Amino acid sequence: MDHLKAAIRTIPDYPKPGIQFRDVTTLLGDAGAFRAAVDAMVHPFAGKKIDCVAGIEARGFILGGAVAHQLSVGFVPVRKKGKLPYRTIGQSYELEYGVDEVEIHVDAVRPGERVLIVDDLIATGGTAEAAIRLLRQAGAEIVGCSFVIDLPDLGGARRLEALDVAVTSLVSFE
Ligand code: PRP
Ligand code: ADE
Repeated sequence: MDHLKAAIRTIPDYPKPGIQFRDVTTLLGDAGAFRAAVDAMVHPFAGKKIDCVAGIEARGFILGGAVAHQLSVGFVPVRKKGKLPYRTIGQSYELEYGVDEVEIHVDAVRPGERVLIVDDLIATGGTAEAAIRLLRQAGAEIVGCSFVIDLPDLGGARRLEALDVAVTSLVSFE
């Protein structure tokens, strides 16, 4: 996975002083790295029954859409507050650098549907935890969460595992 790590750019002090921002756009712009990342995200779930992929706005839409296509399943957008047109349920959460809220449509999943959550990066795990809570509230069974990047010092993967969710990631930045 060293070639994937090398394809991710780091921006110091963005969006706030002290944050090392791991910029996945450079990986997405590299055709070989993008394909390798999506293949590696799909691989652990290829034999498992997945009914749909839920991608978290914004970068999780790009990766989640590609993963859903490769698994031949549908896609559910987990969006920032106020963006979805129909009736929604929402959940607020704290970020490494702020507070935000995500929403899904009330009918985004059917009860019992097996959902794989996809995002580019897990830091504190607050965003993914909010997505898990929302999708479970809608009746979904969470099969796992798949990320390109883990920031293990922030403890996000442990936080999700405490919710009984399997977590996979491709590269870590200590
Ligand atoms: C980033 C990233 C994850 C989240 C991870 O998104 O894409 O969704 O932060 O942080 P956490 O594990 O501490 O919750 P961001 O909120 O910057 O939104 P964006 O993708 O719309 O830029
Ligand atoms: N989301 C939360 N923390 C982040 C980081 N350090 N880089 C990129 N996205 C993030």
